[in-house]
Amino acid sequence: MGYIFALHCGFAFIFLTLGPVIADVNYSMSEEMKRGSVIGNIAKDLGLDLGRLSARKARIDTEDNSVKYCSVTLNTGELIVQERIDREGLCAKKALCVLKQELLLENPLELHRINIRVQDINDNSPLFKEDTLKIEIQESADNGERFLLGEAHDADIGENAVQSYSLQQNDHFKLNVNTNAGGRKYCELVLDKELDREDKKEIALLLTAFDGGSPQRSGTVVIHVTVLDANDNVPVFSQNVYKATMPENSPLETLVIIVSATDTDEGLNSEITYGFDHISGESSDVFSLNPKTGEVRVAGPIDYEKVSSYEMHISAKDGLGLVSYSTLNVEVTDMNDNAPVIYLKSLSNPIPENASPGTEVGIINVQDRDSENNRQVRCSIQQGVPFKLVPSIKNYYSLVTTGQLDRELVSDYNITITVTDEGSPPLSSSKTVHLSVADINDNPPVFEEQSYSAYVSENNKPGSTLCSVSARDPDWRQNGTVIYSLLPGEVNGAPVSSYLSVNGDTGVVHAVRSFDYEQFRSFKVYVMARDNGSPPLSSNVTVSVFISDVNDNSPQILYPSLEGNSFMTELVPKATHGGSLVSKVIAVDADSGQNAWLSYHIVKSTDPGLFTIGLHSGEIRTQRDISESDSMKQNLIVSVKDNGQPSLSATCSMYLVISDNLAEVPELKDLSYSDSNSKLTSYLIIALVSVSTFFLTFIIIILGLRFCRRRKPRLLFDGAVAIPSGYLPPNYADIDGTGTLRSTYNYDAYLTTGSRTSDFNFVTSYNDNTLPADQTLKKSPSDFADAFEEFEGDSEV
Ligand SMILES: *[C@@H]1O[C@H](CO)[C@@H](O)[C@H](O)[C@H]1NC(C)=O
Ligand SMILES: *[C@@H]1O[C@H](CO)[C@@H](O)[C@H](O)[C@H]1NC(C)=O
Ligand SMILES: *[C@@H]1O[C@H](CO)[C@@H](O)[C@H](O)[C@H]1NC(C)=O
Repeated sequence: MGYIFALHCGFAFIFLTLGPVIADVNYSMSEEMKRGSVIGNIAKDLGLDLGRLSARKARIDTEDNSVKYCSVTLNTGELIVQERIDREGLCAKKALCVLKQELLLENPLELHRINIRVQDINDNSPLFKEDTLKIEIQESADNGERFLLGEAHDADIGENAVQSYSLQQNDHFKLNVNTNAGGRKYCELVLDKELDREDKKEIALLLTAFDGGSPQRSGTVVIHVTVLDANDNVPVFSQNVYKATMPENSPLETLVIIVSATDTDEGLNSEITYGFDHISGESSDVFSLNPKTGEVRVAGPIDYEKVSSYEMHISAKDGLGLVSYSTLNVEVTDMNDNAPVIYLKSLSNPIPENASPGTEVGIINVQDRDSENNRQVRCSIQQGVPFKLVPSIKNYYSLVTTGQLDRELVSDYNITITVTDEGSPPLSSSKTVHLSVADINDNPPVFEEQSYSAYVSENNKPGSTLCSVSARDPDWRQNGTVIYSLLPGEVNGAPVSSYLSVNGDTGVVHAVRSFDYEQFRSFKVYVMARDNGSPPLSSNVTVSVFISDVNDNSPQILYPSLEGNSFMTELVPKATHGGSLVSKVIAVDADSGQNAWLSYHIVKSTDPGLFTIGLHSGEIRTQRDISESDSMKQNLIVSVKDNGQPSLSATCSMYLVISDNLAEVPELKDLSYSDSNSKLTSYLIIALVSVSTFFLTFIIIILGLRFCRRRKPRLLFDGAVAIPSGYLPPNYADIDGTGTLRSTYNYDAYLTTGSRTSDFNFVTSYNDNTLPADQTLKKSPSDFADAFEEFEGDSEV
């Protein structure tokens, strides 16, 4: 405006200089007239010459070349509408709207102002800013509460602007129209009747604004009333009680159940949060409840054996804290998750091996923590042991023996008890019971051999080992400790302990003394083996001791007498022919076998060609007839040797007198008389010869008889003259039970001597292995010594 005004001043200035401005013309017109509509006749109003209008180039001009709304019709001089004239566009809400145009004429230059007052017509309707108006109202809002709706706008002015409002008929709201300070009308919604969202949650209302034009125009807006929820409903669980079953040991996160509650409220008020309510600490570890979804899941170990059912209170809470409750019962079902357990309640260990079958050895108890079938158990032990399980009162079993035990066979048992329940799959467990069998002294010691034999050479050293016995006892410790001892007894009248001793621990048998084969060749003793049990058990065994011969006896010459000063002479008749038996050397050897096999040799003789001696018989025979020239006194030195290794020998001298008559032998006196005993000696010689002759005959008869009836070997030890009718060397044929050679003497002997002490001592039955010491050669040496003091015989050992 200021600008226009300035321009206007400029024009005014131009007018002042270029020509005068004649007049202002005022017109009034309605807006929105059609193009070409006549506003007025400007030529007429200004008094212009119509004919010169075109010559003067009359035209409408505007300041600053803006829109030319009008134009001049040159031939009529009318001002017509050239462009659409919109009052609202030109002047908006201004009450007076003037459109200024200028009429320019040339020749002479004239400028006329044309003021066209543009009048409003009701060409605009009231308009609301939006098509719909959204209002949210709490359902709990009170009656009379107001909600501002705003206003409608109408581009027109005056009466053509908004004049009134009206609200669609409805149950809840009224309209209240106010005028603000600027005079504009606005409206409010007033709650007339309470809302219930659950009944009607949206209300649509049509609000209409009217202007005052004619015709009247209106504008509408739809009011969407959204009834906001007030939390007036509690959540409701779908069930009062939820029930679920759950196998124990279910893995974590397993879904148990989904609880759900509904709330008819809306939004936050229906957002339900689930939770456990007043839950005991135990259950809270076991289950979890998703607060949003209501899913109950496993959150911890479920053990039927601990808790078999759970009862939990669950709550559902909506956004503003209204709560309701329900109950969740979870029944846990048993799984066979506990193996049966074996408890050894008592055990007699060790058990004596003589426990009778059926003896109760132990008591076991079996427990299974599961229930029903899962706790039914079967109990067994392995095969092949002499034990069994006897079911007793509930889940108790006795372990009893089924047979006789023998510690020496099986000294301990590992009894494996196996128990299985009837679950599916079944569980089992086992327990091994170690049972020892205690020893009872039920085995006597047993010798390893039925009998023992010991072989020992005579003259053994006292203390030498003969043999060793050994017995075994399978019992335990002292019940199986073997102690050896000699059973008391006698050997040849002497206690066995004087012959043998046995080492109590080792069973080695020792000789206590030196044995003499010539005394006895064998003997038996009993050795007892005894264990150390209580009472002890024992057994005995025979130990046979066989003594073997050693060549420890030199031959013993019985005839002629051995004594050096004995007097022994054989009378050989002068008429003796060659080959005649004139005498015999009789010798014995206390040894046996080869050691007693004697051989005879003449080692020295007066006339070597005259006499021979039988190698084994000892018979002295003439080799030739005796002639006159032979010396009357013949002396032979005979050696007797045994066959032992080394051999032993003895020698003797034999005096032979070749004479028919003893009286013819004067030298004999010299030979045989001793100084002191000459008279006695003569007497003895006479007696000897006569008795010899007599008994020679007698003994031949006896020997003949005995030889025929010979049943047992005999041995003659006593006597001065012996003529064997059996044979020497001894008979080796007899082998006695011990397997050793034994000689049997087959002497048949008689005795003829001139000795006054001579007697006939015939030992009839002297066959055995022993040779009594006191009988051996009892009389001969000393007795003959008395008789033949001058005998030169010499014995060497
Ligand atoms: C019993 O078991 C023990 C230890 O396992 C073992 O030393 C012993 O030899 C076993 N006895 C038997 C008779 O199997
Ligand atoms: C030996 O046997 C007896 C019974 O005969 C028994 O009482 C004892 O315990 C046994 N001794 C040992 C070491 O086993
Ligand atoms: C030795 O044992 C036998 C049987 O083995 C028995 O008959 C005998 O009486 C025992 N002798 C002694 C002295 O114990």
